Amino acid sequence: MTILKSILTITLASAFCQIVNFTEAHAQSVDSTSDLTYRPIYHFTPPQNWTNDPNGLVYYGDKYHIFYQYNPEGDTWGHMSWGHATSTDMMKWEHEPIALQDYQNGDGTSTMFFSGTAVVDKNNTSGLSKTDGEIPLVAIYTAHIDSAGTGISQSQSMAYSLDGKQFTRYDHNPLINLKTTDFRDPKVFWREESQQWIMIVALPLDFRLQFYSSPDLKSWTLLSEFGDKLGDKSKIWECPDIFELPVENEAGVSKWVITLSGGHPQQNGNLGMQYVIGNFDGKTFTADPLPYPLYLDNGKDFYAGIIFNNLPESDTRKIMIGWENSWEYAATTPSKGFRGQMAAPRELTLYKDEKGEYRIKSFPIREVNNYRGNLLAKQSSVAVTGSKLLNSVSGNALDIEFIIKRSSAEQAGIKLLKHGNYETLVYYNKIDNTLKIDRTKSGNVSFSAKFPSIESVPLPDDGGDIAIRILVDNNSVEVFANSGKQVLTDLVFPVSEKVTYELFSTEVATTFKDLNVWEMKPSMQ
Ligand code: FRU
Repeated sequence: MTILKSILTITLASAFCQIVNFTEAHAQSVDSTSDLTYRPIYHFTPPQNWTNDPNGLVYYGDKYHIFYQYNPEGDTWGHMSWGHATSTDMMKWEHEPIALQDYQNGDGTSTMFFSGTAVVDKNNTSGLSKTDGEIPLVAIYTAHIDSAGTGISQSQSMAYSLDGKQFTRYDHNPLINLKTTDFRDPKVFWREESQQWIMIVALPLDFRLQFYSSPDLKSWTLLSEFGDKLGDKSKIWECPDIFELPVENEAGVSKWVITLSGGHPQQNGNLGMQYVIGNFDGKTFTADPLPYPLYLDNGKDFYAGIIFNNLPESDTRKIMIGWENSWEYAATTPSKGFRGQMAAPRELTLYKDEKGEYRIKSFPIREVNNYRGNLLAKQSSVAVTGSKLLNSVSGNALDIEFIIKRSSAEQAGIKLLKHGNYETLVYYNKIDNTLKIDRTKSGNVSFSAKFPSIESVPLPDDGGDIAIRILVDNNSVEVFANSGKQVLTDLVFPVSEKVTYELFSTEVATTFKDLNVWEMKPSMQ
C-alpha cells in the first residue's frame, strides 16, 4: 500500500488520484446488476484481473500481437506487467503467457513494466539473434523502479524474444535514463530513409515529447523535442505515437501525425487523446498551423491508443487500439472477473476538410464486419415521430448503422440497451449542432460521481445527412459518424441483459435511412 500510495501521489498523480477517491463509491451498486459480469464478447479483455494501456502492438511471425498493461495479482492497478495475446485478425485473441512480469531487485526496489512498444528487428541491427534466420522481437518499455525510501525512477529499457512468447531482459538496461520520475511510454519505429530506429517518448509533467535515434536499439541519441507550446495541457501527456499518413483526398500528399494521451474536449478532469499534424524530417517535428487542440475521440473512454508496427507489406493501414476506460473511474467500474478492455481496432486516415484543413478520421477496421451475424433489422427508410421500437432487435452485442436526414426535430437518434427507464441515448442535437451520447440513465452509474455524463462532438454545419455506425458490446458503446470524422466512445453498465432499441425524434418527424442492425458473434472465448 505504501508503494502504491507513493506512486499515486508522486508519479502519476493527476492521472491516478481519483482511484482512491472512488473506492468507497464502489460499494453502492445497483442490486439488479449483481449477476452481470459486463464482459464484452468481441472486444479484447484479459482472461482475469486488471488491464490498462495496450502495449507493443505488432505483427510478428504471421500473427498480430497485443501486449497490455496487466496486474497478474488483482483487478485494480498494480504490479504492472505485460500481458500477451495473439491473433490472426486483430479481433479473435488467444491468450498467451505473461510476457514481462514485475520483479523485485536485490536492493529492495521493485521494477514494473510500464507502457511501450514492440519492434521486429528484421536486419538484426541489435545483434540479439545469434542464429541465422531468427528475427528478434524487441520490446522497448519504461522500467518503473520503485523504492520505498528513495522514490521512483522511470527509464527506457528493452527485452527481446526469439519465439514471440518468451522474453529475456537485455543485460545492459537501461537504454535511456534521465534520472527522473516521469519519463515514459516509448514508441519506436524503423525509418527506412536514414536506416535508423526512431523513438518518441513523453516527459508527461512538462508536456514535452522527445525524439531519439538509434542504429541498433541499444545506443540512443537525443534528436529534438516537441510540445510545450500547443495542445491541451489540462492533463499530463502520456503514450505518444508518430506515423505518416497519405491525405486521402489530396493525391501525392502525406503528412506526419503525432497522437498522445491527455486532455479532453470537456477539459474538466476528463481524459482523452489529442493529435497534431505536421512534418517529421527524421530529426524534428514541425506542426502545421491548425486550431489545436484536436481530439481523436470526444467520448470519455478512449485512451492510451497506439498503432500497430510492422503490418504485412500489402497492408498500408495505420491501425490503432486504445484502452476503453478512463483513469477517472477505472478502478471502480462494476465488471466482474476482469477489469479493463480495449476499444475495437480502428483504422486512422487523414483527409482535408471543407475548410481546407487536415483532420483524422477513425473507423472500425474491416475485420470487425466478419463478426456480423444475423441481420436483425433492415429498412431503407423509416419516418419516426416520438419513439419507434425496433421490434426485431434485441441482445447486447450489435453493429448498427443508419443515416439521419436532418429535420426540424430538436433531437433525433437512437435509444440503446433500453430496460425500463434505463437507456443510453445517441442523438443529433439541433440546438448546438452536435452528436451526443447520454449515459446518465444508462444503468449502474453510481460507482463514480464522474461517470454519469453527456458527451458531444460538433457536426458540420452544412445541414447534410449524418451517417451513424454504432458498435454495442455489452458495456461498450462506440459511435462513429460520417465515416469516423466524429467519434464518441463510452462505457455503460446496463441493469439487465433484456434490452430493447428505439429510434426517436422529438415532436416532429425525422427520416432514418439505410438502417441495418446485425447481431455480433463472439470473437473472444
Ligand atoms: C497511461 C499510463 C502510462 C503508463 C501506464 C502505467 O495510462 O499512465 O503513462 O506507462 O499507464 O500503467
